[in-house]
Amino acid sequence: MEHFSTHVVHNAPICERYHVMKLGWPPRFAPPLPGQFLTIQPPPGTGALLRRPFAVSDYDPLLSQIEIVYERRGSVTRHLAACRTGERLDILAPLGRPFPEPTGNARPVLLAGGIGMGPMFFLATSLLTRNKNPVLILGARDSTLIPELPLFERIDIIIATDDGSRGLHGTSIDALHSFETDGNDMNTEYFACGPMPMLRALALHADQTARKCWVSIEQTMGCAVGACMGCVIPVHGGNGYARVCTEGPIFDSREIAWT
Ligand SMILES: Cc1cc2nc3c(=O)[nH]c(=O)nc-3n(C[C@H](O)[C@H](O)[C@H](O)COP(=O)(O)OP(=O)(O)OC[C@H]3O[C@@H](n4cnc5c(N)ncnc54)[C@H](O)[C@@H]3O)c2cc1C
Ligand code: FES
Repeated sequence: MEHFSTHVVHNAPICERYHVMKLGWPPRFAPPLPGQFLTIQPPPGTGALLRRPFAVSDYDPLLSQIEIVYERRGSVTRHLAACRTGERLDILAPLGRPFPEPTGNARPVLLAGGIGMGPMFFLATSLLTRNKNPVLILGARDSTLIPELPLFERIDIIIATDDGSRGLHGTSIDALHSFETDGNDMNTEYFACGPMPMLRALALHADQTARKCWVSIEQTMGCAVGACMGCVIPVHGGNGYARVCTEGPIFDSREIAWT
């Protein structure tokens, strides 16, 4: 984990409420891995104290840059949306455990729900580079929350919207069912990030179909480095709890005591 100040290289909206930000990554640091996250110190004037976590959505070793995709939600993300090229941000990274490699020759099926798309884009790019033939299922509330990205030209992608305004009419889980009933019910492994109800439904489906399933959990955080216990979730085994910031954010879905 590194603590450093870096500059904004690029910052722009990619759809209705989501933005992409590229930041300089000192080349001497070990590269971040898909599933890992960073935290940003709230800049002065935001009125916020706690560092804000964001999943890494890409890493470019040639340009020494990392990327996040973020949603404008409150004071810090509103401030980020107004940041200009060259502005400096205080970063802690890389944090948390990354996604594991797909098992054997299982085809990776990646599910992204809403702003959970960031870490799935990074994993998709990394799997494509290594010829692992991933499928990306992207679910959103409506078409205004679906960006157009160069990645989509290179990957098998299924888009689903709750209101049917783009792609399949339904959730990302409906899209997964339709993908599987279309003759793709083979040796697959799930990787997902999105809202808890989506992750819970996917974990249940993975149990019923005896597939491996890895989920990225987003939990409100305090320190983000394992000290405050502010981010725990109930798990099976141990003392019944795991810290999302250090034992996660990536978990085997069977580890989690879904409530
Ligand atoms: C491991 C991890 C990875 C994350 N990755 C991303 C990412 O890639 N992109 C992204 O946009 N966000 C991500 N988040 C969530 C992000 O940290 C929050 O959106 C951010 O902290 C909001 O800060 P704010 O000051 O703008 O809003 P705040 O003023 O803190 O909150 C505004 C509103 O958003 C709600 N909110 C805040 N955090 C969350 C959350 N985690 N889940 C649901 N609602 C929340 C609050 O309850 C409040 O209603 C991640 C969180 C975690 C724990
Ligand atoms: S946020 Fe402090 S222990 Fe995870």
